[in-house]
Amino acid sequence: MAANNEKKEQNIHLPHETILKSDALHQYILETSVFPREHPCLKELREMTLTHPKYMMATPGDEGQLINMLIKLINAKNTMEIGVYTGYSLLSTALALPSDGKVLALDVSREYYELGLPIIEKARVAHKIDFRQGPALPLLDELLQDEYNKETFDFVYVDADKDNYINYHKRVVELVKVGGLVAYDNTLWSGSVAVPSDAPMTSYVRNFRGHVIEFNKHLAQDLRIQICQLSVGDGITLCRRII
Ligand SMILES: C[S@@+](CC[C@H](N)C(=O)[O-])C[C@H]1O[C@@H](n2cnc3c(N)ncnc32)[C@H](O)[C@@H]1O
Repeated sequence: MAANNEKKEQNIHLPHETILKSDALHQYILETSVFPREHPCLKELREMTLTHPKYMMATPGDEGQLINMLIKLINAKNTMEIGVYTGYSLLSTALALPSDGKVLALDVSREYYELGLPIIEKARVAHKIDFRQGPALPLLDELLQDEYNKETFDFVYVDADKDNYINYHKRVVELVKVGGLVAYDNTLWSGSVAVPSDAPMTSYVRNFRGHVIEFNKHLAQDLRIQICQLSVGDGITLCRRII
């Protein structure tokens, strides 16, 4: 525990284990290109999250910056996020959306969302957020029951339980428009996808490694989407629906 605290102190801006060549390289990206341009409320939310015991779950700043740019590039208006935690990626999304844009935010925990909510309110973007508490799969099934919801989302960010990613994809691909974008987080899973199964890794990484490997194969075989896997954060795979 002491060693963990020491690491947290050293990497105060760097909650994630990086998959880049070194932590220093990730720190360089953050300090050079992310923090100088980070919205003050994103900074406040990021620093507040670092005091939470599960701070490792937070979307890192460089990934938040990528999400923000993608939303602007495709002029997304109707978006969804699966896996909110304290809301770093949610706030990045809400800040990128036009004033009449929407993000449907799904998480099993309202408690986590409410930690970041006062800061989201301070950023004056809470009106764009429709937060729904509960397991995401039944909420997605409920959306799909109404034909009018199909092919209506411009952008979806998925960052929740990795063992359900294939199930999320089956549903989300029907909800996103042709030409719309889905981004799946953690698709390089701490780099564990590319090492032998008996390589040393934490039990948490080991438990989900097989699911992430299967998911990556699943996406590669889905001809309804164009894919691009980026080594940003813990790996993020962009899927553009083409049919
Ligand atoms: C990695 S965190 C999300 C990080 C977040 N995107 C951010 O910017 O900090 C994963 C989140 O998924 C939520 N989650 C886990 N399983 C879920 C499920 N079945 N349905 C909905 N949310 C779930 C957790 O409560 C947690 O808040």
